[in-house]
Amino acid sequence: MSCCPAEPCAEQHIHQQRLITGDCLAVLATLPPDSVDVVVTSPPYNLALGYNTYRDQRGESDYLAWMVAVCTALRRVMKPQASFFLNISGSSSRPWLPFELIVRLRPIFKLQNHITWVKSIAIGADSSGHYKPVGGARFLNHAHEHIFHLTRSGHVQLNRLAIGVPYKDKSNIARRGHAQDLHCRGNTWFIPYRTVNSRAQKFHHPGTFPVDLPQWCIRLHGIPAPIVLDPFMGTGTTLLAAHLEGGRGIGIDIDPHYVAIATARLHAHAPPA
Ligand SMILES: C[S@@+](CC[C@H](N)C(=O)[O-])C[C@H]1O[C@@H](n2cnc3c(N)ncnc32)[C@H](O)[C@@H]1O
Repeated sequence: MSCCPAEPCAEQHIHQQRLITGDCLAVLATLPPDSVDVVVTSPPYNLALGYNTYRDQRGESDYLAWMVAVCTALRRVMKPQASFFLNISGSSSRPWLPFELIVRLRPIFKLQNHITWVKSIAIGADSSGHYKPVGGARFLNHAHEHIFHLTRSGHVQLNRLAIGVPYKDKSNIARRGHAQDLHCRGNTWFIPYRTVNSRAQKFHHPGTFPVDLPQWCIRLHGIPAPIVLDPFMGTGTTLLAAHLEGGRGIGIDIDPHYVAIATARLHAHAPPA
């Protein structure tokens, strides 16, 4: 079925991944209800980023209403036990944006977890990750973003140890009767970007996330061969994560140029064994 009557949506399948070029609201309306296990997405943040074609500067109330409409459409396609990981951030000039959005989502979802994605960090005199310069003396460097874990019920069971970390003090394992040498990672995830030498290595896209981010979300949700959806797939990072985790992905982007990049990224990986 075409999702946009004026301009039929292109669709292709690579390995177990389905890539759709089109407007996510129109495409989501064509997906069956209660059919998706995990949504991982990073929408445009409305911070005037330089995308290829999308203009990232709507009026604030228009943007928030649009995001509420997209999230409502996502809820319809999510299974009752699905997880929705929404990655978003504000900026020095628009610090309220993620909070304005999450409050508006309150009638639609339970906020089951609020994860802080730490992109760079200083511990003592040591530091890890890339520090993007910030001009002036008013604002600190932006070193983190939000990942809101939204669910329909607030009671979705997770596999916390799927992204667990080994105990520092191994004597805890026997003393406290833990079944394995892993404890919960907590809700602060340090995932730095890989160092790149050119914009081409970031696919000339201004707003990608590292593949570890959707991989950790998929593992945390914790079911085998999940159906994974990203309505703003950009360069296809979520579909790549779904592929690497043995899931079946559906990715949507309005820009054919980014869909072509996502297609090439998936082609560069071997089919599932
Ligand atoms: C923040 S980027 C996502 C980047 C992605 N996480 C990655 O790692 O490449 C947001 C994407 O949303 C796309 N977009 C904007 N409006 C859209 C719409 N109405 N429907 C689908 N995609 C849209 C943009 O083209 C952009 O690629």
